[in-house]
Order: sequence, then C-alpha cells, then structure tokens
Amino acid sequence: MIKGMIILLSEQPTLEFIKNMPKAELHLHLEGTLEPDLKLKLAKRNHIDIGQNTIEEVKAAYEFDSLTSFLNVYYPAMNVLQKEEDFYELAMAYLAKAKEHHVVYAELFFDPQAHTSRGISFETVINGYYRAIENSHTLGIHSSLIMCFLRDMSAESAAETFEQALPYQDKILGIGLDSDERGNPPEKFAEVFKKAEDAGFNITMHCDIDQEQSIENIRQALMDIGVDRLDHGTNIVEDQKLVDYVKEKGIGLTCCPVSNSFVVDDMKGKEIIELLDQGVKVTIHSDDPAYFQSYVSDDLFALSQKYELTSSQVIQLVKNAFDIAWTTDDNKKLYLDSVDKYVENFQ
Ligand code: HPA
Ligand code: ZN
Repeated sequence: MIKGMIILLSEQPTLEFIKNMPKAELHLHLEGTLEPDLKLKLAKRNHIDIGQNTIEEVKAAYEFDSLTSFLNVYYPAMNVLQKEEDFYELAMAYLAKAKEHHVVYAELFFDPQAHTSRGISFETVINGYYRAIENSHTLGIHSSLIMCFLRDMSAESAAETFEQALPYQDKILGIGLDSDERGNPPEKFAEVFKKAEDAGFNITMHCDIDQEQSIENIRQALMDIGVDRLDHGTNIVEDQKLVDYVKEKGIGLTCCPVSNSFVVDDMKGKEIIELLDQGVKVTIHSDDPAYFQSYVSDDLFALSQKYELTSSQVIQLVKNAFDIAWTTDDNKKLYLDSVDKYVENFQ
C-alpha cells in the first residue's frame, strides 16, 4: 500500500484521480456558469432575443482574447436572467455540475450590479441565488456567496450596492471586486472595503493577469486594503517582497489557468508552480466555466498535463484551497482529512 502510494504521488495524476478527489471551488462567478443550453432556455422563457437560436450559434459568439473582449460577451448574456427563479436555476445547474466534479465546498461570486443596472432588484438576485445555496447540501455541497463590486462602475455605485446588501448580511460570506481592472485600481474602492471589513465580511479582490499596473494593484490590495485573499494575482512573482508578505500572512491566491489561457494566451503555469514551490498558498479554480469550457477538475488536469505536475503537487493545490477557505479550523481539518483518506484509498 505505502509502496503503491509513493509511486502514485510521484507520477502525473489521471483525470479520474483529480475528478473524484474532494475539492473546494473558491474562484467561480455564478454568472460565468451560464451554459449555452440554459441561456437559450431562459431567453425563450423570458421572451428575450439574444440573436442566437442554437448551442452552436451561442458558442460561435464566444470569441475573446483579452479580459475586455471576454467581458463584452459576458455581460450582455446576463440579460436572459430576469426572475428570481432564473437566478435559482442558474446556481442549481452549476451546483449539479460541481457535484459531478466532487466539489464539496464552494464560495461563489455574484455580481449584483450587472443585474441592478438593468432594472432587476437586488432582492430578486440574492433570493434566487440564496435559495440554491440553502439547497446545495442536498447535493453534498456546502456553499456560500461572495458579493463582488464591478470595478468599472463608480465607487458610489459600489457603496450603494453595499447598503443594499446589509439587510442580507447573514447570506453573504465575503466581498470581492471584479470586472475590468484597467484604470480601476483597488484604492478606488478603499472606503467601501473598509466598511465591509468593519462590518465583519471577509474580503478579496481580483488582481487580473498582466495588467498595466499589476504589481502596484497587488500592493494596494494587500497593504492598503488588507485583503484576506487575492483572486488571480500571479504577477506577484515579479516582486519578492510581496511574495514574502503573502507567504508570511498565509494569504491565498485563487488561480484559474484555463481562464488565463483565454485572456492572455498562457496558463501562467510557470508562475503558479514557482509560487507553489515557494510555499505560497496558491489554489486552482475555474472562473467562468461555461465560457472557458473547463470546470475545476479540468483546470487541475490541464495544468498538470501541460506542466507535468506530480499527483503530490496536485494534492497540495487542492489542500491549499481548503486551507484558505473562509470556514472554521475544525471544518478545514475535516476536509483536509477527507483528501488524505481519498488519496490513501485510491487504487
Ligand atoms: N476577471 C475580472 N472579472 C471577471 C472575471 C475575471 O477573471 N470573470 C468574470 N468577471
Ligand atoms: Zn474571476
């Protein structure tokens, strides 16, 4: 048994080994899980002309080679989400997929301003999503919500959204920041993030790949805002002082290699592995799986194939995610033990 395990740990993992391992998803946008079939179904139900009638036509519109061009496809598609039931169905469809990939713990981003800005009430969005969160235990998943502000909207709009969210504080685990980073640094949102922290929310921010001011934005997020995690953030390898800082504080970086390969034509695997080797808590996730056609196991597998990772490295990436999850130490231990048990028993 021990001999078998040693061989297994030093070899490249199979997709089956990765897929069946208990996993945590910490970087996933619920709006990015809108698969073409559900998009068409909701468009029909809500009488919305999206200009496409077949799955092939929807997929043909998925042409992006940068964060900006991706977001230009991503936001208009959300128009099919109109009623509470639509948000519920979207989240439940994702959770069913997550179960297939043995996700047992999920912290899910949502973008209320992408909906309130087109006349959908905050209440409709949160009630739909939260009903799915409450139901996720029926699929063996513990899930929760992270509310993100759209950084290309104003700081005032973020502050208003924060006020709208306060009555639902018990339904929101953390606050994040996403959308187009260019010209929208963390400091633009310092005030609202201070309020969020004071109100007891966990906080995180996207620091997307290869941005104009990547290092300065990472510095601001870490030092000025005081985030608990960074989403993406792999450009940090360019600044050893910042690497030492996240290492010392145990701050995790939620990386999404397949998403990276769409927006910058590189999984950033070299950087991810360098950080892993330095002992930084990097983790692997799927970002917008309906658009990048890659759920969390696929991201781990793609990275392990391209960069010849050993099973041991993949297990470390999976364990890091439980380690940096916003849950109790007791829960973390249960999840980490379940990974060990899975590995021990894998034939
Ligand atoms: N970066 C910024 N905003 C986003 C992303 C991302 O990777 N995915 C969905 N919204
Ligand atoms: Zn993201």
